[in-house]
Amino acid sequence: MKKSAPVSRSRRFAGGPDADVVRFTESISFDWRLWRQDILGSIAHATMLKKIGILSPEEQRAIVKGLDHIGREIAAGTFQWQPVLEDVHMNIEAELTRRVPAGAKLHTARSRNDQVALDTRMWLRDEIFELTREIRSLQNALVRLGEQNSDVLIPGYTHLQRAQPVYFAHHLLAYVEMLERDRERLKDSFKRVNVCPLGSGAIAGSTLPLDRELMARLLGFVDAKGRARLTQNSMDAVSDRDFAVEFCGHAALLAVHLSRLAEDVVLWASSEFKFVKLADAYTTGSSLMPQKKNPDVAELTRGKSGRVIGNLVSLLTLLKGLPMTYNRDLQEDKERLFDTADTVRAMARLMAAMLGNTIVNAAVCNAAADDPALLATDLADYLVRKGTPFRAAHQLVGAVVSLAEEAGKPLNRLTPEELRSVDKNFTADALKVFNLKQAMARRNITGAPGTKEVRKQLGRWRKILGA
Ligand code: ARG
Repeated sequence: MKKSAPVSRSRRFAGGPDADVVRFTESISFDWRLWRQDILGSIAHATMLKKIGILSPEEQRAIVKGLDHIGREIAAGTFQWQPVLEDVHMNIEAELTRRVPAGAKLHTARSRNDQVALDTRMWLRDEIFELTREIRSLQNALVRLGEQNSDVLIPGYTHLQRAQPVYFAHHLLAYVEMLERDRERLKDSFKRVNVCPLGSGAIAGSTLPLDRELMARLLGFVDAKGRARLTQNSMDAVSDRDFAVEFCGHAALLAVHLSRLAEDVVLWASSEFKFVKLADAYTTGSSLMPQKKNPDVAELTRGKSGRVIGNLVSLLTLLKGLPMTYNRDLQEDKERLFDTADTVRAMARLMAAMLGNTIVNAAVCNAAADDPALLATDLADYLVRKGTPFRAAHQLVGAVVSLAEEAGKPLNRLTPEELRSVDKNFTADALKVFNLKQAMARRNITGAPGTKEVRKQLGRWRKILGA
């Protein structure tokens, strides 16, 4: 055998693969990212093989030392990846074996099928941790922006039509709640990622007495009580990619939330709204129109949600027709998974940075919220307090709105007499309904945008997020 011949290409094969086939089938161009996990997995496997007597202590030591050297070279960027060796698993093992003869024993009772499942799970564990941290930073940016503008009111919108006044912070906290659900979903999925498939072999485990618990423990596949968590069916273990689908699903929903936030920012930054001013660093100019300042970070956050959704659909489609168990198709999971993780992390990070450098135009916001029409529902509630059924009150206030429109004046400029002409229950105090400050003080049930409640919610989040 030539030195660089693929380790898995046995003497059964007469020649090497066609160059175009190598290009078509290789995964080293993207799965090199799993090198750390691959080396850690191999060290745990070698340690277990020593324990059951397959490797001598000297052989195990030589393997660990060899892997350690390779790891340093990869980290330093001096390691030569070879596409002809297909993937990260064979590249590392072949080079180890070239340097350390005992390396040829490392693949005992192991297949790339359980190896790749292991590496991907270990990689995803770290990603989940990093992404939940990124979500926390974004929540922090939202809460801080709310705290800095805690007196600012805006119209709340339904159907993109002005509905009722809310604190700007209340609107921001809506996203904090969404992001918290995203974070919880990711955290919950961790326990399904954190299960060790090593020992499943290619499909049917091994005839050798492997100590699967030892490997799981060494690699941190343990529950809260420190008990090893092992896959319980070798066929499921090598063909299961549910954990990747789950991550991509949670990431897709997170991306949709970020996209909606981005859309709000795009609207708010427009000349029509003028609610916020984005820092120059998060916008670009137009190559043609000198006056333009475009909210590109927000737009691309919205745009990139598309590929994150696409990645989820790709993964599901990839899996739907696969017979048991491992099929090479599964190699296609990695680029979708990597791209999803990279993209959502960047989206969250940049949205946090952009919001941290956004100035709220308080005067414009407050002016937009100070439209008495937004308190028409409060006027209906006024009649409800006097015993009028809400449906009737709704109609009566509708008549008041028409009256104001005909008279060409805002609702709060109607006279007590005009109001009384619609319903006798409108007494002199009815116009007090339009005092915005008092109107906000009245909205104080849990979850409402009232003055006290929003302060309470900001305080609650500040506690959760820390100073
Ligand atoms: N590169 C492969 C993947 O990502 C590793 C497993 C290959 N297994 C095999 N039997 N060819 O799925």
